[in-house]
Amino acid sequence: MSTVRVCSPGRLAGTLRLPGDKSISHRALIFNAIAHGRAQLRGLSQGADVASTAGCLRALGVEMGEGWVEGRGLGALRPAAGPLDCGNSGTTMRLLAGLLAGRPFPSTLIGDDSLTRRPMDRVLVPLRQMGAAAEVAPLRVGGRPVRGIRYASPIASAQVKSALLLAGLSAEGRTEIVEPAPSRDHSERMLATLGAHLEVAPGMVAIEGPFDGLQARDVEVPGDFSAAAFWLVAASFHPDADLRLRCVGQNPTRTALLDVLRRVGAAFSLSAEQEVSGEPFGDMEISSAARLRPIQLQPNEAACLIDELPVLAVAASLLPGTSRLAGAAELRVKESDRIAAMAEGLDRLGADVRELPDGWEITGPAPLRGARVNSHGDHRVAMALAVAGLLAHGETEIEGAECVDISYPNFWQDLERVSLS
Ligand code: S3P
Repeated sequence: MSTVRVCSPGRLAGTLRLPGDKSISHRALIFNAIAHGRAQLRGLSQGADVASTAGCLRALGVEMGEGWVEGRGLGALRPAAGPLDCGNSGTTMRLLAGLLAGRPFPSTLIGDDSLTRRPMDRVLVPLRQMGAAAEVAPLRVGGRPVRGIRYASPIASAQVKSALLLAGLSAEGRTEIVEPAPSRDHSERMLATLGAHLEVAPGMVAIEGPFDGLQARDVEVPGDFSAAAFWLVAASFHPDADLRLRCVGQNPTRTALLDVLRRVGAAFSLSAEQEVSGEPFGDMEISSAARLRPIQLQPNEAACLIDELPVLAVAASLLPGTSRLAGAAELRVKESDRIAAMAEGLDRLGADVRELPDGWEITGPAPLRGARVNSHGDHRVAMALAVAGLLAHGETEIEGAECVDISYPNFWQDLERVSLS
């Protein structure tokens, strides 16, 4: 386990190109792997999670190389020689469970200790309703035909929605998913580009199956907004900051953090906006901001900033007044229990933080002081605590720093690059 030391730099400035969006990278690989033809994939995430997806698809007989994947249709997938190793990646396990549920052969999916503890019933329950054979521990799916259902998901989860859309490609009839709040819509966008028969309405998506006619499409993967989030908070709260971030994804189902930061007085701008491969992106510039108000999340806002909440908790500890970040019980079942892990880390750094069942109540501004903190093996906790370290007095040591490889392998190098004395 490696430990990284972080201090507050005199100035935080420079230009960064962020890692490819993790969610879009998984989908670019999976959807093109079951489409017909060769797709060039530019800017794909180099993180360990996306490598897990690529490894599983290879094991299922899909041909791919550096920056390309060649699909021969859903029907060309072959049983893997052994269990499919999803590593630390919930997206890999849940999306592949959906994809493989309707295939005529059984598949076993395994993962590391963290992934093995994460809830899989959220996909297995609806898959069983579709007629699939689906067991947990180890997770086994496939070998039985599936049929379309209408499923009202009790949670807003893009992974559940995407798993069922993938199962719907093998299913007889219409598969309809209704969500209690909108979740990220990368699957809908990409499946539509590849020619799936989709119907999308607010809070609902439906797919007609069986369908094995997806056509491969090149994908230009934008920079990951969830990686940008760390720099957005670091620069907004550092007293002397000017950061530029190139080609950052701006999909509106991912950028709720911008609305929250705007409400508390952050100063950032967006330029060079474009849409490529059905996804909007642009350049961002962020500078030090006046810290005006505490954060009050709006109902349903948590689902669209679920991955940004750990770093938003850091922001809350520096804002005047009491912030309530609630409605995010999902954080308890991520790569770690992110509510407990961030409460522990922020408390060690001197923040006034109270754990709620579904988030935190944080009173600031706290004079954060460097301390030894633990990532709990969770990439977003490690990076959020690193941002806290950038904004604290003294030295912060982050144990388990290597886990940033999951989504942002160059994070520590980028941090050094923009930390000016
Ligand atoms: C993801 C969806 C989110 C998110 C995860 C990636 C995806 O999870 O937290 O990092 O790529 O679909 P849920 O769908 O479970 O909320």
